[in-house]
Amino acid sequence: MTETILIIGACGQIGTELTMKLREIHGIDSVIASDINTRNLDLVNSGPFEIIDAKNFNAVKDCCKHNNVKTVYLMAALLSATGEKYPMEAWDLNMNSLFHVLNLAKEKVIDKIFWPSSIAVFGPTTPKVNVPQHTIMEPTTVYGITKQVGERWCEYYHEKYGVDVRSLRYPGIISHKAMPGGGTTDYAVEIYHEAINNETYTCFLSQDTYLPMMFMDDAIKATISIMEEKSNNITIRSSYNIGAMSFSPKEIANTIKEHLPNFKISYSPDFRQAIADSWPKSINDEKARADWGWQPDFDLGKTTQVMLTELKKNS
Ligand code: SER
Repeated sequence: MTETILIIGACGQIGTELTMKLREIHGIDSVIASDINTRNLDLVNSGPFEIIDAKNFNAVKDCCKHNNVKTVYLMAALLSATGEKYPMEAWDLNMNSLFHVLNLAKEKVIDKIFWPSSIAVFGPTTPKVNVPQHTIMEPTTVYGITKQVGERWCEYYHEKYGVDVRSLRYPGIISHKAMPGGGTTDYAVEIYHEAINNETYTCFLSQDTYLPMMFMDDAIKATISIMEEKSNNITIRSSYNIGAMSFSPKEIANTIKEHLPNFKISYSPDFRQAIADSWPKSINDEKARADWGWQPDFDLGKTTQVMLTELKKNS
């Protein structure tokens, strides 16, 4: 039986595009998509799909055994804003799903894991600018706590049990296919939709809030690059810093105005402002560049151009 790849949380913002890219590379039938429901019908109908609750160890294990799954991408998670509303649910999903795949690798049912971490692992005591790979990490959100603890467990399973787990600290991801859900960086996707549909946007962060961001194509490229790299070259088994660009709501609005001069932005910060304020403005990713050749292709100008063009096609 040929080896297959399983994506858990395939209907989400990153899972959707990652699934399609992996199917392009490995063939449709070699990539099994799964999610807790069928909310993204385009994805569900694009190839093998199974309903799996990432919190259910036996469901994940059965799927891996029946399909000879050797690589798992665990993309299911509750993000920062939702995590503050449902702390126990975030802990339950984010931690247990990770333990399930780590334990399947420890039992040698699967060989390789991708698990995303986040800039949310950093907190108010972390340096704000050009954050180094190794630094103070005292996250103040439930989501950040789950990601930081998860990083420790990934490194532990690698050191103690030889588990081949690889991870990236994703910044905010900007994309035009599936919407993000429940994150603090979501404004940087919503703003483009509102610009196309209404030429106006009320931002839930203040105008000068800088956060690290990345266009989806770069996020997918980074994810596939780290997974394809020789194991020996992956020297960080907690999670790699990766950066692409940093901007504020005011700056993204200005790039939109270059294409849509009538676009107007106003600001009405809510509880997500405190989350954003606890995170760094920019990331030092030299370790990812040195170990597996990370290099982003998209800056803010290019991202805005692609986002507006693609969203206009569907409006
Ligand atoms: N995009 C995530 C969030 O805002 C950060 O990893 O929660």
